[in-house]
Amino acid sequence: MSGRVRSRKEPVSLGWRDVLALVEAVRRAEEVKPSQQAKREVFKDFGILGGRKDPPLTAIFYRVLGRLGILDMVLREVTGVKNVLLLDPHLRAALRVFAELLIFSRGRFRFENPIEVRRRVSAYLSKRSHPYVGMWFWDVLDELREHRPRPSSREEVLMLKYRLPLWYVRRMTELLGGEAEDYFKALNRKPLISVRVNTLKASVDEVVEELRREGKEVVVSKVVPTVLRFEGPYNFDASRLFKDGKIVIQEEAAALAPHILKPRPGEFVVDLAAAPGGKTELMGELMDNKGVIHAFDIDRRRLKRMRELLRRTGVRNVVIHVEDARNAPNILGKGVADKVLVDAPCTSDGTIMKNPDLRWRLMEGEVPKFAQLQYEMLRAALKLVKPGGLILYTTCSALKEEGEDVVARLLRKVGSKVELVELKGPYDEGFMKGTMRAWPHRHGTIGFFYALLRRVR
Ligand SMILES: C[S@@+](CC[C@H](N)C(=O)[O-])C[C@H]1O[C@@H](n2cnc3c(N)ncnc32)[C@H](O)[C@@H]1O
Repeated sequence: MSGRVRSRKEPVSLGWRDVLALVEAVRRAEEVKPSQQAKREVFKDFGILGGRKDPPLTAIFYRVLGRLGILDMVLREVTGVKNVLLLDPHLRAALRVFAELLIFSRGRFRFENPIEVRRRVSAYLSKRSHPYVGMWFWDVLDELREHRPRPSSREEVLMLKYRLPLWYVRRMTELLGGEAEDYFKALNRKPLISVRVNTLKASVDEVVEELRREGKEVVVSKVVPTVLRFEGPYNFDASRLFKDGKIVIQEEAAALAPHILKPRPGEFVVDLAAAPGGKTELMGELMDNKGVIHAFDIDRRRLKRMRELLRRTGVRNVVIHVEDARNAPNILGKGVADKVLVDAPCTSDGTIMKNPDLRWRLMEGEVPKFAQLQYEMLRAALKLVKPGGLILYTTCSALKEEGEDVVARLLRKVGSKVELVELKGPYDEGFMKGTMRAWPHRHGTIGFFYALLRRVR
């Protein structure tokens, strides 16, 4: 056969229906979470799902979401509209898709019929919102094609290069100095699939063997030897190991937390921010289902996932409370717990590599609000724990405000009641002596903060 082998670099050919599907998927992703779900629904409606065009269109869809803040900056420059959220959602989605295609994806695609694409998208916008909108879009398109972002500082260069909000680039550059760029680079790397073996149901060797039979090159973590990593994709819905509860999806840095707190069989343990339950499950394992874990969370959807996880994995010593963690001492009593985990809600910026569109949901204004909630949760933990008992405070944020600063505030306010228990590895010291941090660029896992505290006797 003399047919040409299709090179990976060959531009994707886009018909008008493909472009409309992208616009509709990007629009729906504002409403439906996770964004993968929005894309699936729209691609199904357009007959794209599972077909030849699915992978390249999926790649473009995620490029749009991954660059959202930058695309919006371009839209502001081109349209003069200061807040793009005020634009009609269909128009906003169309402009985002075209900004990605015309400015950032040049050479990677070609329109099968450019005039037809323009005409159809214009007509779609006029129909969905207002006749003028389609006409306006038509005009803006020419400007968009000519537009080139012009960064005016090194931080803006980094923002464009690594697709991160400017405030975040500034904040992390202040914290990490010359190392910040390595960190930004690591946030953009595709992570390996990371699972943890549930030792109540299987041994590490058994799971490794099964995954290797499935063709996976498995690497066993040195930090948490029940954590296994391998190249994706992996279909968890079809996985026997997963359905039988022999593996749990979890990153190494997250799996380490229960090993630091070390709950033992028979103890009274409280998990103040438990859902969807990865760490509660591991604590149940370490306790061999003996003793009790009181697990608090306010998110019913995440708690539903947690119940499924506990059922699948055979962890049975958990009492779930759909309650604000700050009420826990009123519910359970004071000085009752041997150990308390506070895996607090946070900006989650340390997990950006796993959630491509999360970066554009990071709001600078949210940071102090999280820090206040985290502090209040720690105060509740301190009331719950017995004298001599332990509290582990963790977040998946790289920001000092949500880690060291919260701990420092607690020590400042109630230093006579609590002391920091120094952590000495396996990761690096945090920005405060005795605390610890995992870093994507240094340790190949998500960004994570740990502080172990003891209530003084
Ligand atoms: C980082 S996640 C916890 C992850 C969990 N520990 C795990 O390993 O799967 C933080 C959780 O805190 C919950 N949360 C937020 N505010 C809360 C509050 N006031 N009280 C209890 N839980 C809260 C969120 O719903 C979210 O599930």
